[in-house]
Amino acid sequence: MPTSRVPLTARRNGPLAGTARVSGDKSISIRALILGAMAVGDTRVNGLLEGEDVLHTANALQALGARIERTGERQWSIHGVGVGGFAEPAAALDFGNSGTGCRLALGAVAGCPITATFDGDASLRSRPMQRVLDPLQRIGAHAVSSANGRLPLTLAGAHDPMPIVFKPPVPSAQLKSATLLAGLAAPGETVVIEAEPTRDHTEKMLTHFGAEVRVEPEGEGRRITLTGQPELTPRPVVVPADPSSAAFPLVAALIVPGSEVILSGVMMNPLRTGLLITLGEMGAKIERLDVRNEGGEEVADLRIRAGALRGVEVPAVRAPSMIDEYPVLAVAAAFAEGPTVMRGLKELRVKESDRLAATAALLRGNGVAADIDGDDLIVHGAGRAAGGGTVATHMDHRIAMAAIVLGLGSERPVTIDDGTFIATSFPGFVELMRSLGTDLT
Ligand code: S3P
Repeated sequence: MPTSRVPLTARRNGPLAGTARVSGDKSISIRALILGAMAVGDTRVNGLLEGEDVLHTANALQALGARIERTGERQWSIHGVGVGGFAEPAAALDFGNSGTGCRLALGAVAGCPITATFDGDASLRSRPMQRVLDPLQRIGAHAVSSANGRLPLTLAGAHDPMPIVFKPPVPSAQLKSATLLAGLAAPGETVVIEAEPTRDHTEKMLTHFGAEVRVEPEGEGRRITLTGQPELTPRPVVVPADPSSAAFPLVAALIVPGSEVILSGVMMNPLRTGLLITLGEMGAKIERLDVRNEGGEEVADLRIRAGALRGVEVPAVRAPSMIDEYPVLAVAAAFAEGPTVMRGLKELRVKESDRLAATAALLRGNGVAADIDGDDLIVHGAGRAAGGGTVATHMDHRIAMAAIVLGLGSERPVTIDDGTFIATSFPGFVELMRSLGTDLT
């Protein structure tokens, strides 16, 4: 866990220019480690995100008996123990800042007859876990937590896991994934019915590893049916560039006049492209070049050119496909002409920080008018931001990076109180941004 704060200041400089590749997708990296650990034999992963969230997850899986090795730059090998094969860890598992690592591992452990304690940093300790424990308890696991469903908590996995039909009360890929991972150990069919589709990396990767997963439309959402007790077969995983990380240099290039940037190999999974759709509606010049398939996902090189943006209304149904992108969309909205209304952001309140409040505060502290109305965020874009503020990042990497992007377009510099949490999802962010010509100190 980072021990001392590292403030960072972003100031306006010339246009951004050049080509860059952001690091590997965090969701896919975490799933590759977990499924690799639940397969029998060796899984090779190419392009793994070597960020703190992923490394914490790797350490936890090692403590559960998987052998995980770094074989080269972003190349990793996982020796898995099979479904139900985790060993009882000697000490508490520390997931650091990673909600995804923690919640998915809770699911993976819930189907094993072992007891493990889950913990994390102050941010993760403040986040709701009961929503994940509910389906896992129905599957047969037992949980004890001191502070009403928050970490630290101890989970006793099921001895005889039961298949369930689960309708997540909130759209959450983490909740869906935890349930499916627990369902791997149960006989028969585990079904998750989601009212709105969320990112489908778990379903796709389970299929890739040989499990039987059926995905059918149901209403506006999806019914996912997993046949339990498969033997997962190790399969190579190629991790594409993370669209949620690409969002930061992308918005920076849009708002700094004269910029032209290419971001290569960015994943274009349609359940992750809500930001691109929204920016397109705002008039952003973003081209998808050389659209291709890499490791089972569509990827593209994105050519981004700065230009005028206009305010738009972002419907609530789009939220799952851009849930991590609202802070940086709000920055783009500040530089647009006219109001941008982002509807249905309730889930932002339970991210690494209360991102609804933190996003409004980062804008207001830098001369941009913003209102929170219920679960909606309204940014009154005026084509400019005064800047000059110091932003409290609340242990939240995406608030930190969004504030940096704001500073790159603002009239006066923007400082963040702490840049250390950027390494949870985007190690190399500062160097990549500097390579495009930005001024970060
Ligand atoms: C993630 C799902 C999202 C997202 C998180 C990664 C995943 O959370 O915010 O950064 O990998 O499944 P929810 O599913 O809880 O919305």
